[in-house]
Amino acid sequence: METGGIAAARWLPQGTFAGQVAVVTGGGTGLGLEISRGLAALGATVVIASRNAGHHEAFCAEAVEREWRAEAIVLDVREAQRVREAAEGILERHGRVDILVNNAAGNFVCPAERLSTNAWRSVLGIVLDGTFHCSKYFGRAMLAAGSGVMLNVVATYAWTGMPGVVHSASAKAGVLAMTKTLAAEWAGRGVRVNAIAPGPFQTEGAARNLWPDPETERRMLAQIPQGRFIDRDEVAAHCLYLLSPACESVTGECLVVDGGLSLAAGRMWAPGERVQRRPGTKS
Ligand code: COA
Repeated sequence: METGGIAAARWLPQGTFAGQVAVVTGGGTGLGLEISRGLAALGATVVIASRNAGHHEAFCAEAVEREWRAEAIVLDVREAQRVREAAEGILERHGRVDILVNNAAGNFVCPAERLSTNAWRSVLGIVLDGTFHCSKYFGRAMLAAGSGVMLNVVATYAWTGMPGVVHSASAKAGVLAMTKTLAAEWAGRGVRVNAIAPGPFQTEGAARNLWPDPETERRMLAQIPQGRFIDRDEVAAHCLYLLSPACESVTGECLVVDGGLSLAAGRMWAPGERVQRRPGTKS
């Protein structure tokens, strides 16, 4: 099977996911879309699930053009009953679920003291509750089959914290704990659960909102030890690797893909900088 130049699929052999059924939440946009394209290019039947049907169009059109096996469903992952019905429907139509990518998220920057209860609940609902509902209902199908693999998209601020995103950071920390707990519960029953924590990656939206001018871009790049932003395709390629048989023995792990940014957070000295002892003191 041809991977058709899909960059995210470039590291894995053709047909890596042939015969498998994959569900990607938030699979119509951003990182979720690249993961979906990569899975489909590598042979999986891909079901993208998200709230907004308008977000399905690009993937569905490409699937027709490239003759991928694909489907899109409208789903709000906060609604447990809807998730349950979605899982039952997919099992009925496709007979199996092999892969789940919990990628759907909601986020915005807001000081904690100004965050409304509804805003807190929205983000916790999508990220934490949604990941649980999907893991539970799609997980049941995997456990019954004795095999399956899940991947949860988190962020390094799950453990470092970050000003302005108390809702998202708290939810992602919960998802990280969920990853390890479910991995331990299900390891003996053929189901792997891992996470990925991408650093800031290049998208039009990120460039427009996060580093809108050359000076801000330079300042941000100076924080990243590798001195470059990551590509979304590159993050997606790591996701596919974690979902692939290449990682058969890896479970409960979180792969950080951030060019070393989280290692350097709040660093005191620049690499190679010489720090002189205060004059007149002895070691
Ligand atoms: N700053 C502060 N509060 C915000 C906000 C922002 N930028 N965006 C949303 N909220 C608040 C709303 O005001 C509302 O609270 P309120 O009722 O007290 O006013 C609450 O969050 C829910 O917002 P609403 O848009 O009604 O709910 P929703 O559940 O449909 O969507 C989000 C919430 C966060 C998912 C939505 O803002 C969104 O779609 N964001 C873009 C997608 C996204 O963030 N993707 C993830 C990238 S990591």
